[in-house]
Order: sequence, then structure tokens, then C-alpha cells
Amino acid sequence: MIVVTGATGNVGRSLVRALAEAGERVTAVSRRPADGGLPEGVRHVPADLADPESLRPALDGADALFLLVAGEDPDGVLKVAAAGGVRRVVLLSSQGAGTRPESYPHPRAFEDAVRRSGLEWTILRPGGFASNAFAWIEPIRAARTAAAPFGDVGIPFVDPQDIAEVAAAVLREEGHAGRTYELTGPAPTTPRERARAIGAALGTPVRFVEQSREEAREQMLRFMPEPVVEGTLSILGEPSEAERRVSPDVERILGRAPRPFADWAARNAAAFR
Ligand SMILES: NC(=O)c1ccc[n+]([C@@H]2O[C@H](COP(=O)([O-])OP(=O)(O)OC[C@H]3O[C@@H](n4cnc5c(N)ncnc54)[C@H](OP(=O)(O)O)[C@@H]3O)[C@@H](O)[C@H]2O)c1
Repeated sequence: MIVVTGATGNVGRSLVRALAEAGERVTAVSRRPADGGLPEGVRHVPADLADPESLRPALDGADALFLLVAGEDPDGVLKVAAAGGVRRVVLLSSQGAGTRPESYPHPRAFEDAVRRSGLEWTILRPGGFASNAFAWIEPIRAARTAAAPFGDVGIPFVDPQDIAEVAAAVLREEGHAGRTYELTGPAPTTPRERARAIGAALGTPVRFVEQSREEAREQMLRFMPEPVVEGTLSILGEPSEAERRVSPDVERILGRAPRPFADWAARNAAAFR
């Protein structure tokens, strides 16, 4: 049985579906119930990663765990997982844990804990998600506009569906133990291009508005701690060579190229109507 934390999120929802379709027994974990439902046969168990003990009921019969970075006690979570019978853990970390560890101490700490856990581990380091464009839902619905800083700086955003498919493969197949995979899309896209792609998917243009770094910073501080905001703004504004690079890992694992941003926009256009 595979336990998926973050099961109602952009990655987790697709992962639960992929695993269920492949015939795996799946336990979906999040703090709140899954509104919108889960695939048939998938049980939901509420738990909070901030309280490792709360995971115990979800781990009954578990062999593998898909772990999200949440809470402050990764060693505690991994101890409870090992005691529950988990042998394999796949961590959803972040590219920043490798390229800017000082700005992303949280994923870095989870990576360190996973490596010393004694479990069979694989680390996934995705770059920015295509689904970050959901932040534009309200302004696009209301005024067909999308605002972001660094409008012409391109980075290869990754589709959460690709992350989920990679995670499903790594959870189910042999040969990924002790590996760290970097997950990106197939080509860099700029915020201006992503706004244009959503307009194309909607069949009506979306106007791009360039924000200053300070405007973006203020907005991001409402839902992210300051070091993460600074790190994220640096990646978005002055990406290093490693952060601009298209990684071969999605294609190596799935045997096909990663999905382009336009594909994500087409599948999610209804959210912006
Ligand atoms: N967005 C990016 O650009 C980016 C880039 C690199 C890495 N990441 C990482 O990818 C992760 C997943 O992204 P996503 O877009 O799929 O997330 P999301 O859509 O925000 O969903 C988060 C999921 O995790 C659950 N969750 C959150 N805190 C929890 C906790 N303390 N205990 C148990 N469950 C918890 C949420 O459900 P409840 O709220 O009901 O618990 C939900 O199911 C992020 O958290 C981040 O660490 C993101």
C-alpha cells in the first residue's frame, strides 16, 4: 500500500489518480477531507505532518510513502513511517534545496532526514510549478489581466502532472533508490509567454502587467516566509544557469518529453473562465 501525503494538492491529486489507475492500493493523506472526491477504492485518512504521531492510522499496511515538506520534524515523521512498515520513501523537495540551500532550509532539512532515515529513498527536486499560474485566476476572470515581476525572464516551469507521473514511477519501480531527480518542463517560458498561453487556451487575450520586484515581494510575503520570498524572487529574476537548464530526468523516467506550459493551460483553462 502506498501512502500519499499532500493528496489533495496539485501534485498529490494527480499522483493518487495515477497510482489507483495502475491498480495500487492507496491511502490519501491531508489535514482536510478531499472535497471533489477521490478515485474509487482510495481511502482518505486525515493527518498533520506537523504532528508525526497523527500519521500512524494512515500507515497501517504501508510499504511506501510519498512525503511532502511540511511540519518541522522530518525525523519524527520518518521514524513513525519506518515503525509503520514503510520501506521506500519518495520526497517532494524543491530545486532550491540544491541551488540555494540558504533560502530553502526547510526542504534541505527534509532531504537530510530522508538520506539518514535508513529507508530506501528517492528525492524529487522540481523547479517552479506551472500551477503557480492559478494565482492569476481572479485577475484573469475579473479583468483578463495577469501581473508578475520579471516578465521576460524564462525558466522551465514543470507541469505538476509530470511530477505526479514521475513520482508514481519511482514509487512503483525498482532502480531509483538513492537518486535525486531534478524535474523541469521542456523549455524555459517567461511570465509574459505564460499569460499569453492562458489567453490562447481561453480564446481571448490576457494582458500582461509587469510588477516591480517590491510589489511582488509584498504580495508573496502574505503567504511565504521572508527567506523563501527572497530566494524565489532571485530565482524568478536572476536564475542561475542550473535554474534555467532543462533537466533530462522527466524524459529519462517517463520515456517521453515533459509537457509544455501550453498543455497545462489548455487542461486548466476552465479555472480562468
Ligand atoms: N509551487 C512551486 O513552484 C513549488 C516548487 C518546488 C516545490 N514545491 C513543493 O511542492 C509541494 C506540493 O505542491 P502542490 O502545488 O501540490 O501543493 P498544494 O496544491 O498547495 O497542496 C498541498 C497539499 O498538502 C496538504 N498539506 C499541506 N500541509 C500539510 C500538513 N501539515 N500535513 C498534511 N498535509 C498537508 C494539503 O492539504 P491540507 O491543507 O488539507 O492539509 C494539500 O493536499 C509544495 O508544498 C512545495 O513544498 C512547490
